[in-house]
Amino acid sequence: MAEEKLALPATTRVFTVANQKGGVGKTTTTVNLAAAFARSGARVLVIDLDPQGNASTALGVEHRAETPSIYDVVVDESSMASVMQKSPEFDHLYCIPATIHLAGAEIELVSMVAREQRLATALTTLLQEADEPFHYVFIDCPPSLGLLTINAFVAATEVLIPIQCEYYALEGLSQLLNNVAMIGKHLNPRLTVSTILLTMFDSRTNLANQVADDVREHFPDKVLSTLIPRSVRISEAPSYGQTVISYDTNSAGSLSYREAAAEMARRGVPN
Ligand SMILES: Nc1ncnc2c1ncn2[C@@H]1O[C@H](COP(=O)(O)OP(=O)(O)OP(=O)(O)O)[C@@H](O)[C@H]1O
Ligand SMILES: [Mg+2]
Repeated sequence: MAEEKLALPATTRVFTVANQKGGVGKTTTTVNLAAAFARSGARVLVIDLDPQGNASTALGVEHRAETPSIYDVVVDESSMASVMQKSPEFDHLYCIPATIHLAGAEIELVSMVAREQRLATALTTLLQEADEPFHYVFIDCPPSLGLLTINAFVAATEVLIPIQCEYYALEGLSQLLNNVAMIGKHLNPRLTVSTILLTMFDSRTNLANQVADDVREHFPDKVLSTLIPRSVRISEAPSYGQTVISYDTNSAGSLSYREAAAEMARRGVPN
């Protein structure tokens, strides 16, 4: 891939990265796309909305229990600006970390006012008040369709669904799409599923090829042509508190995420 300068969007694109299935590559996709965009000159924010805090780890950002975090934003109405950290990975790459406290938020939110809108309200304020505009925001969701994920859907304009190329890939997808449709109808009419990314692809297996073909047939205009291969470099990068984009810039895994980012930039916002 040439060192392509990616065109920057005119207004902030806010992606929720969601799939209620666990371990399909949500966090890996979030941090590596964010890093790929930041590397190409965009200002990027990652919001870690998973109590596991995996995105915070991969971006090398402090997220011990006492660290100010997305919990304080969602539950106590702290500003995002007050809990945002700069990732050491790239210039213009920021992260709002998640700590273990977020595990309780799902229950605490139930009885709160505007329980579905709390993340959206805080994000709108951040984007309005930021000295320099953000080009991309990625929200990394937990593997469930609870109130945290609903908050992410309400705060976003686009949904990005990573799909692991394996047997059960399409199972649960209709439930996810139904939820997005419900949110679109009742809470956030601007929301669309704009992007599907096939992850952990192993071209040597017939099954992976078959799953990829199936997904493309169902969602021809949403699936990126770039596939993310199964790669050891991708899976070992987080243990160094890094994305694969900085850990091994020219590895196949890094190149695939950089190409996926370029494709997203070229495609732009769907009509
Ligand atoms: N392309 C890849 N090649 C090899 N390993 C990968 C790849 N993508 C992700 N992994 C590994 O698979 C595991 C699950 O990935 P990841 O944490 O991104 O999924 P997730 O959907 O965020 O999981 P969860 O639902 O728990 O939040 C991790 O150990 C990750 O390092
Ligand atoms: Mg995750």
